[in-house]
Amino acid sequence: MKSLTDFDVLELPSETYDAVVVGSGAAGLMCGIVLKEIGLEVCLLTKGKREESSTNLAQGGIAVALPKEDSPDIHFNDTVRAGAGLVKPKMARILVEEGVKRVIDLIKMGARFETDERGLLKFTREAAHSVARIIYYKDKTGEEVERALLSSYKGKLVEKAQVKELLAEGNRCYGVVASVDGKLKLFYAPVVAIATGGAAGLYLKNTNPPTSTGDGIGIALRYGATLQDLEFVQFHPTAFCDNSECFLISEAVRGEGAILIDKHGRRFMGDYHHLWELAPRDVVTRAIESQRRITGGEIYLDFRPIEKRGIDIEERFPTIVKKLREKGIDPKREPVPVTPVAHYYIGGIKVDTFGRTSIDGLFAVGEASCTGVHGANRLASNSLLECLVFGNRVAYGMYRDWRYLRLDFKELRLTGKSIPLRIESSFSLEDVKRVMWENVGIVRSAESLTRAIDKLSEIAASSSRWEVRNGALLGLAIAVSAMRREESRGGHYRQDFPYEREEFRKHSEFSITDLERLL
Ligand code: FAD
Ligand code: SIN
Repeated sequence: MKSLTDFDVLELPSETYDAVVVGSGAAGLMCGIVLKEIGLEVCLLTKGKREESSTNLAQGGIAVALPKEDSPDIHFNDTVRAGAGLVKPKMARILVEEGVKRVIDLIKMGARFETDERGLLKFTREAAHSVARIIYYKDKTGEEVERALLSSYKGKLVEKAQVKELLAEGNRCYGVVASVDGKLKLFYAPVVAIATGGAAGLYLKNTNPPTSTGDGIGIALRYGATLQDLEFVQFHPTAFCDNSECFLISEAVRGEGAILIDKHGRRFMGDYHHLWELAPRDVVTRAIESQRRITGGEIYLDFRPIEKRGIDIEERFPTIVKKLREKGIDPKREPVPVTPVAHYYIGGIKVDTFGRTSIDGLFAVGEASCTGVHGANRLASNSLLECLVFGNRVAYGMYRDWRYLRLDFKELRLTGKSIPLRIESSFSLEDVKRVMWENVGIVRSAESLTRAIDKLSEIAASSSRWEVRNGALLGLAIAVSAMRREESRGGHYRQDFPYEREEFRKHSEFSITDLERLL
């Protein structure tokens, strides 16, 4: 299983760089900035407009051990505790320790964060953090991070360039095939980084931008890279959804004092966890689902306790308040109906501490990668930090490998031949999203996963559209991984195995050979 696109390198236009980075979110940009500083000729390809990314939508902030009552050790312990037994300690140490330096770099690049009257950083709290350690800029931290990183990136950047295939032979990657403004083009480089973000956009209800369809993870899967922990998807407890869209209501809203109530106006989170609304994300998500079932009604987020603390929600959360008012809801006066939706992809392309994948010359970084830093459940606001820390490290990893991987890759005669379809169908990406949401969602079971595996195999084997086939293959890999993990842990909840099981306290790995019998 490799290409979903027909191509012949001799027939296509090409460009050659020292390094290619795919994706212009925090991870790709940070990596690109450092590669350029090191002196490599780098080309950054991005699917839509340059700022279109999950990064740009981030609300809550960045977790960093900078407050005086905090330390990297305390941040490390919180990260490990939230990760439900699967955080890789070495990776988490790197995250919390290098995170402090990378946030300072980001501020030097011009990113603004809220400060007090003395000009010192302000910190807010989010779920499962034992200290208020989240730096933020109103409720649009991501926009600010994206702006600062984009203005610091000095390499080449190509918009509307969707990467679809790798130029790869044996276990070696030599570049990528992208559709640029609808035409195929080759981008050769001895080192390539996939920074295409996560896959929560493969779910019908999600907080992500339309670009988050797991493209890079699906591509890496097809070309034989080892993937890790695919079954772990993080569902955010509080999104507002209507018939046209879902959007996030930041955890920082609860961090500032908002409470969850049921249809009777009862604050219920104490029935589920001693940290109430600030329990780990997976706990709050399932508590909302359970309380909705018990009461047979909506769950609401009440912002009014925040105002009782003297905080003006219009000033603190301008984007959220504006958006809710556009929907006819005034959070100053009334509780807001909320629902859990897919938010963050914990699994991804397995990488080492410098972002190396199992394919030589291929790196991965950010939400597309799986460093193991989040274990089975990510601690809020650790993701942007991961992008900054590993974006920087991956650039150094690429530089090191570039020095010996420079070979005459232009001599290669690579071709791609789209895998034949069993039959041709008219399935759309919506079909994939519906199957994922209904069967591989917050609560899973062998029965629902079997349905998903059957349907996604059919879609993957019969759709000629790249997006649908790539998405269905990744969805299938997620469903199979979820089937294999016969326990509940972190973001993965199995109705038929509702508890953690010691024999499953290990990372799962997945590669294309695991799918062969299904296709
Ligand atoms: P992204 O920022 O998603 O960037 C991926 C890039 O790859 C995009 O430019 C995209 O266009 C491009 N791309 C995708 N496919 C292709 C392709 N085939 N070819 C070329 N380019 C491609 N985390 C926090 O730490 N704090 C927060 O407050 C926070 N709030 C969040 C709020 C929302 C609404 C969302 C959705 C996420 C939030 N997160 C937060 C998570 C965090 O924003 C993301 O995990 C992080 O930004 C991912 O960065 P990234 O660079 O890996 O991917
Ligand atoms: C949020 O603001 O709730 C999102 C934070 C995150 O996903 O880390």
